[in-house]
Amino acid sequence: MKHASRAVHAGRGGKAGARTPLAPDLSPAAVHVYTDLDDYDAAATGERPGHYYGRNSNSNRKMLEDAVAELEGAEAGVATGSGMAALHVAILALAPKPVTIVATRELYGGTMSLLRQDLEPAGYEAHFVDVTDPDAVKAATNGAGLVLIETITNPLCRVPDIEAIAAMARDRGVPVLVDNTFASPVLCRPMELGATAVMHSATKYLGGHSDLVAGVVVGSTALMGAARSRAVRTGTTLGPFDAWLALRGIRTLEVRMRRHSDNSLALARAMRTVPGVAKVHHPLLEESPSFAVATRLLPQGAGGMMAFDLEGGRAAVQRMMSRLQLVAFAASLGGVETTISYPVITSHRGLTPEERAQLGVGAGTVRVSVGIEDAEDIVADFAQALGPG
Ligand SMILES: Cc1ncc(COP(=O)(O)O)c(C=O)c1O
Repeated sequence: MKHASRAVHAGRGGKAGARTPLAPDLSPAAVHVYTDLDDYDAAATGERPGHYYGRNSNSNRKMLEDAVAELEGAEAGVATGSGMAALHVAILALAPKPVTIVATRELYGGTMSLLRQDLEPAGYEAHFVDVTDPDAVKAATNGAGLVLIETITNPLCRVPDIEAIAAMARDRGVPVLVDNTFASPVLCRPMELGATAVMHSATKYLGGHSDLVAGVVVGSTALMGAARSRAVRTGTTLGPFDAWLALRGIRTLEVRMRRHSDNSLALARAMRTVPGVAKVHHPLLEESPSFAVATRLLPQGAGGMMAFDLEGGRAAVQRMMSRLQLVAFAASLGGVETTISYPVITSHRGLTPEERAQLGVGAGTVRVSVGIEDAEDIVADFAQALGPG
């Protein structure tokens, strides 16, 4: 089956039988009834399939897990109550004891806080590197216990060479966890490039409609067994309705990602000529430092994320924001509607101005999650908001 068809059918477990619902029933049951002790025992040990208690498993969650695993080319998946919960169980499954974690220095702020505020006090050590610099990654990986990278960095949209990093880490016996939230399995499948496990904030593109919070991690059956046990013990597994919604979102993932990708590149190209815009960041612009890697690893498009720097800093961003008609300020991404975020007070608020400057995030940096509206409307809205008057 072609990948585009997979998103439509993944997780169904084969052809729908006669008189079965085409869309899955929502199963909110917290507990299932058993009439045979041996049968319950077999379900509880996993010898026989069967749901018995909602924190352990649920049919809607299972379908979502199977769907994302299938799309990413992994054996199994675990769905959690948020992307952060997926990251947490994934890290603990890959590195149950304190290790050095080599991570993208532009890491999503929540992930950085998890490393600094929860894992470092428990003995882990986070080592942040420029993951687009192969020598820096190589040097940091010697003696490390985990590499944690994002397919596309936030907010400047750089693309690390996942294939080269995974090969280098494999030689050193170090697992690689990839946060594939920005690309989705439609545009990039890190397991095929050598990653050990892949996670998503399903709140973003997988769900796609800004109406749920969820996370999914996928990998080998053994690794997902460890991740699932932790999610069950700590009570972070995903509820049925959000799982149902996320799966519904996935059905249109392929067409949405194509449109997001086309629109973001169109907007990035157009913004280059808008007065007041100092710099545009998109991995598929020829001037991007990631152009060559992105062209190779994201041949079907780079998704909906892009950023630009405005001359005039925060005041210029506020002026543009108050004049935008179609585009809203909202501190998330990956929905069908175009939104902007201001990293200084959203994703990167935990960093000092010096740390932000080192990453290239300034007072004029605006991140855009480009939606699926008509590209002409999106471009026109930014152009009028930044225009004279
Ligand atoms: C790249 C990335 N990873 C992980 C997360 C965390 O996901 P969630 O908010 O679903 O916990 C986010 C949220 O913005 C994100 O952008």
